[in-house]
Amino acid sequence: MNEIITGIDIGTSKICTIISQMNKNGEVEIRGVGVSPCSGLRKGVVVDIDETVKSIKNSVNQAEHMANVEVKKVFINIAGGHASFVKNKGIIAVTGENKEITKHDIERVIEAAKVIAIPADKEIIDVIPIQYIIDGYDEIRDPIGMIGIRLEVDANIVISSTTSVENLTRCIRKANLEVGGIIVSPLAESEVLLSKDEKELGVCILDVGAGTTDISVFKEGTIVYSKLLPVGGDHITNDIAVGLKVSLTEAERLKRQYGFAMSDMVDEDEEININVIGSQSPVKVKVKEICEIIEARIHEIIMLTNKNLIESGLKSSISTGVVLTGGGLSQIKGSIELSKKILNLPVRIGSPDYIGVSLPTYSVAVGIIKYVERHKRDMLNSVVLETKNRQINSQFNLFEKVKEFFSDFFQ
Ligand SMILES: Nc1ncnc2c1ncn2[C@@H]1O[C@H](COP(=O)(O)OP(=O)(O)OP(=O)(O)O)[C@@H](O)[C@H]1O
Ligand SMILES: [Mg+2]
Repeated sequence: MNEIITGIDIGTSKICTIISQMNKNGEVEIRGVGVSPCSGLRKGVVVDIDETVKSIKNSVNQAEHMANVEVKKVFINIAGGHASFVKNKGIIAVTGENKEITKHDIERVIEAAKVIAIPADKEIIDVIPIQYIIDGYDEIRDPIGMIGIRLEVDANIVISSTTSVENLTRCIRKANLEVGGIIVSPLAESEVLLSKDEKELGVCILDVGAGTTDISVFKEGTIVYSKLLPVGGDHITNDIAVGLKVSLTEAERLKRQYGFAMSDMVDEDEEININVIGSQSPVKVKVKEICEIIEARIHEIIMLTNKNLIESGLKSSISTGVVLTGGGLSQIKGSIELSKKILNLPVRIGSPDYIGVSLPTYSVAVGIIKYVERHKRDMLNSVVLETKNRQINSQFNLFEKVKEFFSDFFQ
């Protein structure tokens, strides 16, 4: 069955919708992408519902138009730092004939694992099974079809603030969509950025976005830590605007065009013309000066990351290093080298390996799709019905549409 999965990354700078469909080999194919700027969030939290709803509608419309489908149910993200993780155990007696474990038993044991005391202002948004245990035999990943009397699950229960979750769901509903599920950003990203070995041995996903930096650590196959810092790539732009007295648009251009995180390596004499606020004619500025501003802020973000990793007691667990993603730092030359120097760990850039959405800024949206495909397939049925009425264009040419999209968005 050609299931459709729609993932929406609700970010501080943009809302990104990706519509995917399973091909006949059961692989995920990207069919539509929509990106709409958004200023309705601060520090990863919705502060302006109307603005967020407008951007959601806009980005979903773009993606629907490109994919030639209509979506109703969507899966969204919540920042890792806005979630907490509690380990719990669920235990049930297998009731079916022949004591064969069924999908229904899995649902029951997961429900049993959800029985924990949580504060009144928090709610459970996801349950991640770590291992199943059948009659004392542990480390079982998929117990369906196995025989047993007593089924246990060790699970990571994902908890988040009810207010954050309600505001996000309200935005989706006001955009006439249905929330299929809320996925914690680093869990989504881990599906497309990390290998099984990295997750097992210890790794950190560092997602530096526009307004936030989400630090998450994975170990022994599961997430063990997540922290949100209220700083990101837009702070670099802001520093340039203030430091050089230019508009935010001009600052963003300078960052993207000349940004380099190792200012020592920049030629002392290289000068460019910039448009200073209030000045009639362009003003000359040293590229090195721009890079010094950029380096100072990147230095601060990475130093804060290092401090949090040390304080969490997990720095020594990150044996396979740091995967840098999100748009805030990953595209500035030299940031990998600077991060390696400060963190004293291996650092690499993580981006999704899919044509048309292979930038680090798409990690969350693509990750949501992979996460749902791997762990939440049972929640997709109604999506197929929603999209059945619309004919999917068999002449759909992804390359052409992706090309069109990028020339519109990045002109
Ligand atoms: N080529 C580039 N060079 C430098 N910075 C870039 C480049 N492209 C994008 N950025 C920066 O990346 C940031 C946006 O990244 P991203 O899309 O990951 O953020 P977001 O998901 O909207 O925000 P958040 O995750 O904080 O909620 C912006 O600060 C933008 O200036
Ligand atoms: Mg983001």
